Amino acid sequence: MADATHILRVSPVIPVVTIDDPRHAVRVARALADGGVRIIELTLRTDSALESLKLIAGEVPEILLGAGTVLAPGQADAAVDAGAQFLVSPGVTPALLGHMLTLEVPILPGVATVGEVMAVLEQGLQAMKFFPAGPAGGPAYVAAIGAPIPHVQFCPTGGISPASAPDYLRLPNVSCVGGSWLTPRNAIENGDWKLITGLAQQAAALGVSP
Ligand code: 3PG
Repeated sequence: MADATHILRVSPVIPVVTIDDPRHAVRVARALADGGVRIIELTLRTDSALESLKLIAGEVPEILLGAGTVLAPGQADAAVDAGAQFLVSPGVTPALLGHMLTLEVPILPGVATVGEVMAVLEQGLQAMKFFPAGPAGGPAYVAAIGAPIPHVQFCPTGGISPASAPDYLRLPNVSCVGGSWLTPRNAIENGDWKLITGLAQQAAALGVSP
């Protein structure tokens, strides 16, 4: 159950979403789904993130709901209790990875070096978040990892835009990318759900071959 390879195939882009006010949570999730993006990585970066997770889990069942920015075992437990269907961490420690492997949900551990990829692979996982993708080396770096380790699939995230996403998505070891650009904070605050739906439509189309 722990391997998240199937999670990476849901959408060409996994929106990395930070919600300050849980009253916006359901509207944000519906705006993304309306645009054809039915997956969310909701970051645990706000005090109310668990409440937002619960609301989306309860009211927007068409969304595959993940919790992101999981830094500690307790956060992983709390996110699963709140309804997270998968977990994403920006990096891994032995304690966090070991704990997440005991849970009943797929996990997407973050890696940024070949050694980290090998450490996660040793635990039987073949799907990983590559973070922070842009600063770490971009598409050329991800492609180079694929030479010795072609059987790992990545979701590069960090510093990716609609303009740079295709450069990652064309790589054989990239199934999707992640990014926060689909849900700008001011669009959420202003209730601009149409903008978010439009950005989701554009992101969903990245997966369609010309
Ligand atoms: C993440 O947690 O994955 C990143 O903060 C997303 O990076 P971005 O804001 O550059 O898309």
